[in-house]
Amino acid sequence: MSELPGRVRQAEVFLGGVRGRRPVVPVDPGRLEAAARRAMSDEAFAYFAGGAGSERTVAANRAGLERLRIVPRVLRDVSRRSLSVELFGRTLPTPFLLAPIGVLELARPRGDLLAARAAAAEGVPIVFSSQASVPLEDCVASMGAASRWFQLYPSSSDEIVASFVQRAESCGCDTLVVTLDTTMLGWRPRDLDRGYLPFLLGKGIAQYTSDPVFQRLLDERPGDPSPAGRITPAAVRALVQLARGYPGSFWSNLASGRPQAAVRLFLDVFSRPSLSWDDLARLRGSTRLPILVKGVLHPDDARAAVAHEVDGIVVSNHGGRQVDGAIGAIDVLPAIVDAVGGRVPVLFDGGIRSGADAFKALALGARAVLIGRPYAYALSLAGEAGVRELIRNLVAELDLTMGLAGCATIGEIGPESLGAAPA
Ligand code: FNR
Repeated sequence: MSELPGRVRQAEVFLGGVRGRRPVVPVDPGRLEAAARRAMSDEAFAYFAGGAGSERTVAANRAGLERLRIVPRVLRDVSRRSLSVELFGRTLPTPFLLAPIGVLELARPRGDLLAARAAAAEGVPIVFSSQASVPLEDCVASMGAASRWFQLYPSSSDEIVASFVQRAESCGCDTLVVTLDTTMLGWRPRDLDRGYLPFLLGKGIAQYTSDPVFQRLLDERPGDPSPAGRITPAAVRALVQLARGYPGSFWSNLASGRPQAAVRLFLDVFSRPSLSWDDLARLRGSTRLPILVKGVLHPDDARAAVAHEVDGIVVSNHGGRQVDGAIGAIDVLPAIVDAVGGRVPVLFDGGIRSGADAFKALALGARAVLIGRPYAYALSLAGEAGVRELIRNLVAELDLTMGLAGCATIGEIGPESLGAAPA
């Protein structure tokens, strides 16, 4: 009980202020995003911030959270508080996790590794992305026994799926998070208008290029007969980037053409539009790891997932990156919590920008919440220290919001803690 992270963090910031130090990571979410925009390349910021279509889903995630209002209760002795939650056999100090975010190298070189260290230091599980820029094994090597999860994009290659699952098991991942909402890439105007897809430059495919099965499939593939296409300065830069980023020596990569072949193979195997409940059943049978499904937005899908023996559900619309005009994630959370009926934990992401936002999701029945874009922004500003600062800010605000709302434990936060804003 009661390390009172809210007061600790406030004291740290205000005492720093007395000595003339300002937080490196802006506490205000809008200023954080603006600072990250200045810190990143134009393409990188577009990739992180962007959503599908006209970004109405991105907006709906925020609007749904903003409609909800916290109703503080008074005189409840909140001098001792605990933010801890139980999840898959672990007692976590807070209900936060870092969401799987691909291509973190666009925020910082070796970004996944830095985020992993920050998460481990703060006791927050990180969900490693299938689209990470640093292989899973390298990331977990610096995490000690800290909790790590692995997010799987079901590939069209069963062999690659099996290999990823086996690697997640060997790396001591606590769970497998199977993302269901990306059977194909959404229509993302910010990336389309820039003609920018990081994977084509060999970015964000490290889980694949470090995978023995992927490498074997690459060996077995016939050489590519297609002509090289017009040589432009941009194409040459792309080639150099590819050869630099690919494992092994730059010159032999350049000569062999293997990095380009790897990108082509990745594009062939990345997604599985045929994904069905049968695939989930097969996956369930293939591992003892707890399986969570991420991207569930309909109560019937949640019920079906539970019937398929998943161990948890992540209510998410992928941060609004897949379907424009989709329902706000927070808007469907209560119905899904209701459909699941406590049989498995329901986690939540989409638009969480503050401790107060997290409080609202917890009040609607989420067991834990995933932090998305804000940690990529913090990473771009100050690497590992930046992500730690961001986590501490969110935890601090949740702690203070709980106390001020009259809740001493996460379990005391419930639907009665909320009211709706007037229409
Ligand atoms: C994502 N997300 C994501 N999800 C996933 O399952 N695997 C992935 O590789 C990625 N990659 C990714 C990249 C970027 C740049 C973003 C912004 C998001 C979705 C992520 O896990 C989470 O669902 C959202 O980020 C939550 O929304 P907010 O809080 O970022 O708005």
